[in-house]
Amino acid sequence: KTVAVLFGGQSSEHEVSCVSATTVIKNINMDIYRILIIGITKEGKWLKVNNTEEITSGSWKQNKETAVLLPDAALKSVLILKGEKAECIKVDVVFPVLHGLYGEDGTVQGLLELAKIPYVGCGVLASAISMDKLYTKIVVDTLGIRQAKYVAVLKKDLEAMEEAVKKVEAVLSYPVFIKPSNAGSSRGISKADTREELMEGLKLASEHDRKILVEETINGREVECAVLGGNEPKASGVGEIVAAAKFYDYDAKYNNAESKTILSPELPAGAAETIRDYAIRVFRAVDGHGLSRVDFFVDRNTGEVIFNEINTMPGFTSISMYPMLWEGKGIGKPQLVEKLLQLAFA
Ligand code: DAL
Ligand code: MG
Repeated sequence: KTVAVLFGGQSSEHEVSCVSATTVIKNINMDIYRILIIGITKEGKWLKVNNTEEITSGSWKQNKETAVLLPDAALKSVLILKGEKAECIKVDVVFPVLHGLYGEDGTVQGLLELAKIPYVGCGVLASAISMDKLYTKIVVDTLGIRQAKYVAVLKKDLEAMEEAVKKVEAVLSYPVFIKPSNAGSSRGISKADTREELMEGLKLASEHDRKILVEETINGREVECAVLGGNEPKASGVGEIVAAAKFYDYDAKYNNAESKTILSPELPAGAAETIRDYAIRVFRAVDGHGLSRVDFFVDRNTGEVIFNEINTMPGFTSISMYPMLWEGKGIGKPQLVEKLLQLAFA
């Protein structure tokens, strides 16, 4: 069988994807699969990559062979272009190890649906909903699961900044968080203690997306739960992120060694069970398949569990919670990767 691993991509999480892909590739069973590695540059060029060393060194970006997934459902192939020469390689399954926009948001999943090639993880709908923070809010509201109070602001609303600010202040009190609706890994997110900071935050977020979410601040511990499966998805145990920075921003997440992850942290009575139950319910509500990591807060004062977000292609780096949570359940990385590949056919 041939598995094509896609990584990189045109999102702000390109670098994370490179690290995640390395972990995934190293844990694919080479006795079962032939691996075809395809790197997508930030500019959106698709290149054939020969090994994980090229990913680690970054040299793959200089590779000359193009490797593109064809939408043709009869071919189910990757087309390799080398100068004048073209070759089609049949692909049995694709593992899109892509985080963020143009990869985790349903776009690549749409291409794979057209091609009728099985792929790891969530489909078009689940991916698209989960990448859009505002739309996720709407879906989770229907479950009656608590989440941070929010106000939606559009980029064009910023032309009348005074009114946009008043709309937020009518619902929320400072401090608030400002987030682009569609963006991964905390990029474009800021916290505002004052009206001036809110205006700055709105402008910053609008550089990343047309839709902006302003949320109440939750004074909570950040906990995460991994979901794995198809029709009968299972939830892992719970893990906690103890961030080094003011809040869990992009830097703290990937560049700061002081961010710690703790498996099975001590939580208020019943919280872990609630988190696992909510994780499954949210996964089902967005029509999830394969895998997701569902993130929550546990309110520091009340102990209440508050939904934060769902990631349909969570990180697979060495500090990533998703594989760690399954290791905590006795499922090692090779077994996890194989299970995910099998679920692509389910
Ligand atoms: N978006 C990053 C990769 C994560 O959730 O792990
Ligand atoms: Mg994400």
